[in-house]
Amino acid sequence: MEVPASFASVPRSALYAIAPFVLVALILSFIRAYTTWNYYRRMRQITSGPGKPGKTIPPPQIPYTLPYLGNALSFLNTTPGAYWHKLFSWHPRSSGACTLLLGGKKTHIVFTPHIVQAIFKNKTMKRDVFEHELFQKVFSLPEEQIANAEAGKHHEHEMNAAYLTKFDRVNELTETFTRVLDEVLAKDAEEIVKKDSIGLYDWLRDRMFTASTTALLGEEILKMYPEYCEDFFKFDQEFLGFFFDLPNIMMRDAIARRDRILKKLQAWGKAMQERSGGSPIDPEGPAWEPLFGSRLNRARQLDYKKRNLNARSGAAFDLGMTFGLSSNAIPATNWMLLHIINPKGDPTLYKRVMADILKVQNPDGSIHTPTLIALPLLQSIWTETLRLYTDVLVTRNLSEDVKLPLDEDGKTFIEMKKGDNVFAPSYIGHHDPAAWSGQKNPSEEFWAERFLAPDPANPGQEMFSITGTNGKFYPFGGGRTICPGRVFAKQEALGALAMVLLRFEFEFLGFVDKSGKATDNFVKPGSNFPGSGALMPGGDMKVKVLRRQRLN
Ligand SMILES: *[C@@H]1O[C@H](CO)[C@@H](O)[C@H](O)[C@H]1NC(C)=O
Ligand SMILES: *[C@@H]1O[C@H](CO)[C@@H](O)[C@H](O)[C@H]1NC(C)=O
Repeated sequence: MEVPASFASVPRSALYAIAPFVLVALILSFIRAYTTWNYYRRMRQITSGPGKPGKTIPPPQIPYTLPYLGNALSFLNTTPGAYWHKLFSWHPRSSGACTLLLGGKKTHIVFTPHIVQAIFKNKTMKRDVFEHELFQKVFSLPEEQIANAEAGKHHEHEMNAAYLTKFDRVNELTETFTRVLDEVLAKDAEEIVKKDSIGLYDWLRDRMFTASTTALLGEEILKMYPEYCEDFFKFDQEFLGFFFDLPNIMMRDAIARRDRILKKLQAWGKAMQERSGGSPIDPEGPAWEPLFGSRLNRARQLDYKKRNLNARSGAAFDLGMTFGLSSNAIPATNWMLLHIINPKGDPTLYKRVMADILKVQNPDGSIHTPTLIALPLLQSIWTETLRLYTDVLVTRNLSEDVKLPLDEDGKTFIEMKKGDNVFAPSYIGHHDPAAWSGQKNPSEEFWAERFLAPDPANPGQEMFSITGTNGKFYPFGGGRTICPGRVFAKQEALGALAMVLLRFEFEFLGFVDKSGKATDNFVKPGSNFPGSGALMPGGDMKVKVLRRQRLN
């Protein structure tokens, strides 16, 4: 047998055929080598001692291989936190910031509490580029409609201030939410208890969605569109794919779903206008009415016209509002409930929570919300749930070069250029082992008491405290773009939790993973794009629901 002695014996045509691949491989290796060299050069500048006070450095660019795409493919890992865990296994957090190339765009990732806070405080930094892309890519609104939306953006702040964040208005929303949830759970107390086994998340997600959507949008929407819950949560999980420019072929189902949701919401809006006699009931009128629901929604529907938003754009805004109210509070409530009744968790937790909730029950069986949301243990559980299970990217686009001090001593500055983007990913701070060290339980573990501290005013008692978490903990974003629904979200979530626990007990049957197979492990977050907000469970707890035996 003859073995070719050298390349000379390889046919020339084969060499020509592989030449382009060799060239591409060479170019890619060169890019990798160059970006790696550049990375270590920057890191040396950062770590080479304090130097002159006022030392200014650009954040180190994380090495990459593919031009333009840069770090995008690995960044878009849909296992929550996977990209950050991998990055910080070799890149030191002490650098304070680093840069990713994402689809041709320099994106600075900032993660020292000091810089994160500086970004929140800076009132001139905006995120309008991202809002534009949201309208354009996720909702595919035409430019002229986007211009109308942008021109009237201040209306949203005004409406939120008037109808969402004000104390009385939040309470009205909570009241309707509670009324509807109570009706739904009362029905379950007859029906669901007959079933041998249900998925806890599946069940509660549906019930809470019904209550919050009815409180916000009235009681006709789910009659006209009973699959809204199902469609919405699928959309919630996939919509960032539009934002990150995944190819259409991967987004086919998502496109169909988005178009269906918008069509259904549009039909609903039209029908409600007609039945309301052409215009929604005055937002200053009743707190809630069946057709358009809350004051906030009525104000928004009127506002769409003022801003010259057409019916499809209006539907996109309705979907956005549903997102604001449901995408975080509902999964967060589920995580709380899962941990409280987890038979493999702290065996005393359920009893302590129940004792607290029974204390805030009114004689008629209802719950006194202001006392409920001030209970230290429940606040700590809510906060710990948000810490572990939210992943928000606070985004800003830079219209000017900006220099920010890396940490308190103010000796080193990082410099970011006009036109670049800045991301402050909450996941990094929420899961920083150092930030939560000195505490008995590691950062990756759920610890119900993490946010409890001795109460100096009442020796022997504990109080809720988030002292020392500035810039490390921001589940609702921060600064001017902080989520306006956060007050309602807390009332909604703790209210729903208490109502469910007061009405039912749960017999644990087992955990299932995201494909529905039995597993010994506690539920993990499912696939979520980075920046998805609250993480959806990727699995469930199977339980038998029983009516709670009243203790009193
Ligand atoms: C805020 O950001 C802008 C760039 O958007 C920058 O020019 C300005 O210096 C920053 N202000 C502070 C106090 O850092
Ligand atoms: C980015 O943000 C600034 C405000 O900081 C804004 O004026 C500017 O138009 C935005 N867009 C771009 C493309 O930079």
